[in-house]
Amino acid sequence: MAARDPHRFVNELEDAAVERLIARLESRAEDAVFTRLFDKYAARLGLPELARILEVGCGTGAVLRFLTGRDDFFGKVYGVDQCRPFIDAAARFAQDANVGDRVDFRVGDAHNLDFPDGMFDAAIAHTLISHVTEPTAVLREMARVVRPGGTVVIFDGDYASLTYAFPDHEFGHQMDVALATASFNNPRIMRDLPRLLPDLGLALTAAWGDAVVEIGNGSYFRSFAETYLPYVTKAGLVADDAAQNWLKAQRQAMEDGTFFAACTYYTYLARRV
Ligand SMILES: C[S@@+](CC[C@H](N)C(=O)[O-])C[C@H]1O[C@@H](n2cnc3c(N)ncnc32)[C@H](O)[C@@H]1O
Repeated sequence: MAARDPHRFVNELEDAAVERLIARLESRAEDAVFTRLFDKYAARLGLPELARILEVGCGTGAVLRFLTGRDDFFGKVYGVDQCRPFIDAAARFAQDANVGDRVDFRVGDAHNLDFPDGMFDAAIAHTLISHVTEPTAVLREMARVVRPGGTVVIFDGDYASLTYAFPDHEFGHQMDVALATASFNNPRIMRDLPRLLPDLGLALTAAWGDAVVEIGNGSYFRSFAETYLPYVTKAGLVADDAAQNWLKAQRQAMEDGTFFAACTYYTYLARRV
């Protein structure tokens, strides 16, 4: 069976798998890595206090809850995701966080947004673009719904750089590639953005990379491996027993304080021309 990015095909997963992804998105949002990287670009948005912001592929709404919690922003946020259970969870979590009146969550397709041209001051894709069927179409839609002069933010990992230490280097590399292949439809898309953005009417205003590295112990990459390993074996990329041994070795390394994993994440800020 070919690799099937679970976020791309989330609407075809069983209920229990969807619930596991909801739990993963929420626990990832509690990790210091997530807030550090989000805060870094949020601080540079320079938006009007009452800006209207869209997040495309909002999942359970963590990014939008963080935005509404900022003390330099009092506007309204909109979230679109293809997955109804994610959107229902996002609405519930926003109510629990007492920001229900500032968020508008809708089921929709990032390739075909149901909003008029120029409606938003900014549009964000936070770990979306690596999952979609057609990245250029999604970026074009984001550019369309942002007003001229508004901002498009694209944040994601370069999953060709995803790596876990493993004593057998050859098998370790095979696992790195298998994890990236099973989990992301477009693992290398962040390298293409400097070339793609100008043709979409998006002028790059800032871009940077952040190495996310866990040495000794792991939380961010532990959760990543535990969540996505089943998709590696389901796609037949690595035999189940070899993959389980790899995971066991990663857990043991965390217990021993000898763990190592890393991935580079990139942020692009672009102005709608
Ligand atoms: C890794 S999650 C990120 C969720 C959220 N941005 C966050 O950072 O917590 C990727 C999300 O993109 C959504 N997604 C993937 N393809 C989509 C599409 N074509 N239209 C709308 N949402 C999509 C998935 O349903 C999933 O919620």
